[in-house]
Amino acid sequence: MTKPTQAPPKINLDIIVALAKRRGFVFPTSAIYGGLANSYDYGPVGVQLLKNIKDLWWKEFITGRTDMVGLDSQILLHPKTWEASGHVTAFNDPLVEDIKTNKRYRADHLIKNWVETKLIQNPTDSAWQDFSVENLKLAEMGTFITEHQILSPEGNPLSAPKAFNLLFETAIGTVAGAKAKVYLRGETAQGIFSNFKQVLDSTRVKLPFGIGQIGKSFRNEITTGQFVFRTLEFEQAEIEYFFDPEASDWQSIMTGWKDSMWQFVTTTLGIKSENLRWRQHTDKERSHYSQDTYDLDFNYPFGWSELWGIAYRTDYDLKQHMQFSGESLGYLDQNTGRKFIPHVIEPAVGINRLFLMILCDAYRFDETKQRVVLELTPKLAPYQLAVFPLVKNKPELTTKAESLFQMIRQNYRTIWDDRGNIGKRYLAQDEIGTPFCMTVDYQTLEDDTVTLRDRTTTEQTRVKTSELESKLAAMIG
Ligand code: GLY
Repeated sequence: MTKPTQAPPKINLDIIVALAKRRGFVFPTSAIYGGLANSYDYGPVGVQLLKNIKDLWWKEFITGRTDMVGLDSQILLHPKTWEASGHVTAFNDPLVEDIKTNKRYRADHLIKNWVETKLIQNPTDSAWQDFSVENLKLAEMGTFITEHQILSPEGNPLSAPKAFNLLFETAIGTVAGAKAKVYLRGETAQGIFSNFKQVLDSTRVKLPFGIGQIGKSFRNEITTGQFVFRTLEFEQAEIEYFFDPEASDWQSIMTGWKDSMWQFVTTTLGIKSENLRWRQHTDKERSHYSQDTYDLDFNYPFGWSELWGIAYRTDYDLKQHMQFSGESLGYLDQNTGRKFIPHVIEPAVGINRLFLMILCDAYRFDETKQRVVLELTPKLAPYQLAVFPLVKNKPELTTKAESLFQMIRQNYRTIWDDRGNIGKRYLAQDEIGTPFCMTVDYQTLEDDTVTLRDRTTTEQTRVKTSELESKLAAMIG
């Protein structure tokens, strides 16, 4: 396992949370009722950024490849799905309870914080440098907490850790009880495995091939304070890539997918590579279904944490579903007549984690101009262009600006703004990452040129309106 780099977080999470609320990226859920733990809503620019991320993922990994197909399975699946997958028994977090307030906390997180504090007090303390909480079993966490007298954040003693299942339960119909019990899906992956045969039977796919889907999943997480990094309800983009273990070796398939994930994050999303690293899971930390797992980590303001996981799930899931359903989920090789259960490599990412990474990586405070800038690529930016009339009370300016606005918005995500002074309008667009602002001014009426202002440099160039479309195509794509 590579040791975490101790680089100080470049920005404070509170700054991102405040910007997200101020500009309409992310709002606390149910704010009028005092909010709901670990739950957030996406505002007008936030939902567009989410959609842009999902569209880019879909284009790169589904429609952009000949070995991939898409799927959209249900959130509520047959409850046996989760028995077969192992989630009913093994999808647990280790929780401790404050014995006075009865508030619950993640035991592993309290231990990790305690060790980090020790290392801050004495960074060369060899006792803790190589410590990894992932290596502790439930009982060992209990011993650790007792031995080191770790208290709750309120300063009270803690109970022994218990395994707490993360699946949300609900019931179908009006009859309560075991018969009606279903789960909100804990991962989108299981809908892919349970549809494996139907995809095989209805398409022309041949191994190796993958099935990908984007959709909501639900986990009863109790950790708070990480904004949209860890939420009860979140959106996953998962791929199950099936292959014949005798024809391909899993290490090369995994390496190929790791390269594709890296490429997507650095090139398509434009994230700085110094903020990314690979980390292999330890044996104890790996999920119950995996033989080998890597995380692509991002350096979030709260430290290095998982962005995107890739796991070698072997034939675990298909075999489990065969056993629980009684259906054959094998694959017949038409050339050799051999029938076998394919193995799987799974690259699985949370869209909301990509979203948070993008905000953190793109955030820049421009000291010279005392402004906040989100350096989003034009593909990601909620708006690609803002159109302003210099002032709003001159009909000749607003009419001209309006006609250009209507033309440009046919092809680009474009926003209109005629409020206040132009400087404030630029600053508002900088904070939501709009790469270009176009202003119609008095000179426009004389020579049919407009100014195009670049968000990053703040430089303005004059462009003939007849050349606008080609200029925008070159700059935005
Ligand atoms: N399917 C992997 C995960 O949900 O984390």
